[in-house]
Amino acid sequence: MSDTVHRTMGQQSGRRSWAEPWKIKMVEPLRMTSHDERVAALAEAGYNTFLLRSDDVYIDLLTDSGTNAMSDRQWAGMMLGDEAYAGSRNYYHLETAIQNYYGYEFVVPTHQGRGAEHLLSQAAIRKGQFVPGNMYFTTTRLHQELAGGTFVDVIVDAAHDPADLSPFKGDVDLEKLERLIAAHGPGEIAYVSLAATVNMAGGQPVSMANVTALHELCRRHGIPLYLDATRLAENAFFIQEREPGYSGKPIAAIVREFCSHTDGAWMSAKKDALVNIGGWLAVRDGTLFEELRNLVVVYEGLHTYGGLAGRDMEAMAIGIAESMQDDHMRSRIGQVRYLAELLEDWGVPMVKPVGGHAIFLDARAFYPQLRQDQFPAQTLAAELYLDTGIRSMERGVVSAGRDPTTGGHNYPKLELTRLTLPRRVYTQAHMDVVAESVKAVYDARASARGLAMVYEPRYLRFFQARFEPIS
Ligand code: F0G
Repeated sequence: MSDTVHRTMGQQSGRRSWAEPWKIKMVEPLRMTSHDERVAALAEAGYNTFLLRSDDVYIDLLTDSGTNAMSDRQWAGMMLGDEAYAGSRNYYHLETAIQNYYGYEFVVPTHQGRGAEHLLSQAAIRKGQFVPGNMYFTTTRLHQELAGGTFVDVIVDAAHDPADLSPFKGDVDLEKLERLIAAHGPGEIAYVSLAATVNMAGGQPVSMANVTALHELCRRHGIPLYLDATRLAENAFFIQEREPGYSGKPIAAIVREFCSHTDGAWMSAKKDALVNIGGWLAVRDGTLFEELRNLVVVYEGLHTYGGLAGRDMEAMAIGIAESMQDDHMRSRIGQVRYLAELLEDWGVPMVKPVGGHAIFLDARAFYPQLRQDQFPAQTLAAELYLDTGIRSMERGVVSAGRDPTTGGHNYPKLELTRLTLPRRVYTQAHMDVVAESVKAVYDARASARGLAMVYEPRYLRFFQARFEPIS
C-alpha cells in the first residue's frame, strides 16, 4: 500500500485503536454447551456459579484471581525453580522485587492473599479491638473477626451508590475514622485496613491525596496503616489518569509513592501480579516482622517459601515487574472499558465509573421485582450462565454473610453481579459475545423470579451455598 493511500485511509476513519502489547503463542480450547446441558449443570451446582465445573463454562468471568495468562518469561522462570526447602534463590528474587517495586523492607511469602490476612490479623489484632477499613472484603474481614476484631466500614458514602460518578470512590472518609477513634480511643484501633481499588465497591480507586492524609491522621494517633495491595497497580492507573500531577508519572513510580504512605501491605499476587498462585506480606517494623516470620512457619511453611514452590515465587517476581508496565495496564483496563462501553450503549445498569478488574452489574436495577432476600445478584449470575455459558459471581447479600451478633443477613446497599476479566486471557470477540449475552438477559429481566437458599455453610457462604428457583 502506498504511503499516500495509507495516510488517506487513516484520515478517513479518523481513529487510532490500541491493542495488547503481546501476541498469542499457545491456546486452550473452550467447550461450548447446549442450553439443555447448562440447565442440568446449573441445577446440579445448586444455582451457585462457584459450584459449576469449569468444563461446563464457555467464557469464565468468575474472577480475575489466579486466572491470569503468564508470559513466556514467566514460564521460562518456572523452569528455574530452586526447590530447596530452605533459602531458595527464587525467594530472594521475590524479596528483591517486592523491595524494589513496593518499597517495604521485610517480606514474608504466603500461599495466597488470605494466608497473609490470617498472619497479619493474628499478629496485629487484640481481642475486642476495631479494624476500620474502606469497605469490607470477604476473606479480609473474616480473618479480622476470627482474630477477635470488629471491622468498621469507613469508606466515603459515594462508594455505596452505584450511580455516583466520583473519581475516587475508594477513599476513606477521614471524619468517619476520626469519630471512631474519638469514641473508643486510639488504643482500641488495631490498624487501618486500606484496600487499593476496592473490590466490593466495584473496583473503585483510592486517591494519592487520600492515602497521604490518612497516613498523617494515623501517625497522629499512633495507629498503623496496612494496605491490601492486591490490585494496587490498577489503582495507580486511575491515579495517573485522574489525579492532578500524576499524568506523566509511570505506574511503577505511583505504586512506590502510594506504598510510602503505609506501614506495610499484603497481597494476593493472583491478581495484579499475573500468576496463578501466590501472595505475600511485607512490613517496615522489624518487631512485627519477627512475629510474622514466626507465625508463617506454623500456618504456611518455612519463611523462605510460605506454602509456595520455588517456581511459583520466580513467576511472581517476574509478574510483579510486568504488572507495572504502563502498556500492560492500559490494555488491561482498556478491555474492561471496551466491554463496559458496549453495555452502556444498550442501557444495561452497572456500577460507574467502571473499575479496573470487572464490570459490576446492578442487580437491583435489573430486577426491581425481587426482594434482596430473593437474591437478585445470585439470580442474575444464574441467568447469565443459562444464556450462553458465561460464568460470573454474586457480590451482594450472599457475599455479605450474616451479622456475627444478631445472626441476620447483612444487607449491603450494593447488590451486584461481577463480570471479572482475567488478565491477558480473552479477546475482544469474547467481549462482544459477553455483551450480547448480558443484553439478552437484560431484555428478559421481567420474567426473573429469584432464588431461595437451601443450604448455607458457616463461613464465607457464597462459595458453597446452594439455591433453588422460586416457583
Ligand atoms: N483482598 C482482595 C481485595 C481480594 O480481592 C482477594 C481475593 C483477597 C484479598 C484474598 O486473596 O484469594 O488470594 O486468598 N479476591 C478474589 C476475588 C477471590 O475473586 O475477588 P486470595
